[in-house]
Amino acid sequence: MVMKTMQMERTTVAQALEPANIGKKVRICGWVRTRRDSKAGFSFLELNDGSTIKNVQVLAENKLPNYDSEVLKLGIGSSVEVIGNIVESPAKGQATEVKSESLKVFGYADPATYPLQKKGTSMEFLRTIAHLRPRTNTFGAVARVRNEICRSIHNFFQSRGYIYVHTPIITASDCEGAGQMFRVTTLDLNNIPYQNGDSKAIDFEQDFFGKPTNLTVSGQLEAEIYALALSNVYTFGPTFRAENSNTSRHLAEFWMVEPEIAFCDLEGDMGVAEQFLKTIFNDVLTNCPTDMEFFNERIDNTVIETLKSIVNSDFARITYTEAVEILKSCGETFEFPVSWGCDLQSEHERYLTEKKFKKPVIVTDYPAGIKAFYMKLSDDETTVRAMDVLVPKVGEIIGGSQREDRLEVLEKRMIAQGLNPEEYWWYLDLRRFGSVPHAGFGLGLERTVQFVTGMTNIRDVIPFPRAPKTADF
Ligand code: 4AD
Ligand code: MG
Repeated sequence: MVMKTMQMERTTVAQALEPANIGKKVRICGWVRTRRDSKAGFSFLELNDGSTIKNVQVLAENKLPNYDSEVLKLGIGSSVEVIGNIVESPAKGQATEVKSESLKVFGYADPATYPLQKKGTSMEFLRTIAHLRPRTNTFGAVARVRNEICRSIHNFFQSRGYIYVHTPIITASDCEGAGQMFRVTTLDLNNIPYQNGDSKAIDFEQDFFGKPTNLTVSGQLEAEIYALALSNVYTFGPTFRAENSNTSRHLAEFWMVEPEIAFCDLEGDMGVAEQFLKTIFNDVLTNCPTDMEFFNERIDNTVIETLKSIVNSDFARITYTEAVEILKSCGETFEFPVSWGCDLQSEHERYLTEKKFKKPVIVTDYPAGIKAFYMKLSDDETTVRAMDVLVPKVGEIIGGSQREDRLEVLEKRMIAQGLNPEEYWWYLDLRRFGSVPHAGFGLGLERTVQFVTGMTNIRDVIPFPRAPKTADF
């Protein structure tokens, strides 16, 4: 008869560090950060399992049967299981430690070739070993904070009755109308079919979907469909942009949260956006105190103070026209000179939020010519009811607008921007049948993680960054 013994439930390092658990027998697992041997016949292992930035100290005595044969071979990166008791630690700076009764090695790591050494690990180098970087303090903390932000995003909308809608990844329409899309095709690129032998017109009828398709740049248009039936909805998923921007704030694949709110105008939209950001920042401060202390100490010594002050004060609100006046008369020299009608560059956005207002700024009512076709045209017919939320260091973190809900105006805007209204017949139908004022916005998840953590490069706040010439792992 085969006897099956139940495996002890695993206790996390975070739990093993809690003084309330002193006296408990536990099974903890993780990766060794350091080993120190004492001549008195025992070793200390620092163990981390990703549940917290802190390590737990494990005491391994030479009376363990595998002390000489195995424990003394453990170095940074090795993986182990320890069964033992949580005891009060005599050492300073830690309340508990684990006294091992048995220690099992899962896998050794050769210290001579292990790529993650304690010193000399620049962010650039760590990007080349994205399969190991989550084992560092910084990337573990980024992963936990990113997770907390996602939880907070869902909580915010779910607790307010928004319905989470899944919008398609593959689409035949260009939501932003900017044409920066990744083509999706199953056509043989070495043998492309052309219409009637015309070498310019590809015969997309032979393609998988029977027409040209791309990866989505935004779930907004589909979210609008659901908002005009379920009132308050949100999407949250990956989006793709083939912009050739090699900056510290752009990715080719990034995650975006897009609420869409029916019976709502731009003022209502801004109110939700401001409340939303404050809630996220407050949740991270409350639920990730250890990781936030780490970022404040090691990455950017202003992050905690900045988040706290944002949670407790109102965002500044100005129109685009006011922003242009401020920028023109501020005496700064910008690389890109400012005039009414130009798009605000990152340097302008940063001046407004870092120097002029020293807090988040919502800029509204941009020139119609520089914004997407779906934004509601104002009575002046030169601006649209758009809003961007700008924050220090990152610049634009949210882009949104009230939507054009008048059929004829929307058709005209599409044509003016070179889009074919016939291809958007379903979007126009929403204005034909029971149109309502509605608004929404998109929050870039990675820019949010960047802002919260102080991490300078956006490629370090997503596990596997996608950018021009970068698609590893
Ligand atoms: O301003 P954007 O382009 O707005 C939209 O996509 C709208 N459809 C949103 C809506 O109204 N539902 O993008 C929204 C946000 C930006 O403010 C920025 O935070 C982020 O998405 N973003 C990027 N993040 C990383 N890399 C990129 N290439 C990004 N492009 C936009
Ligand atoms: Mg934008």
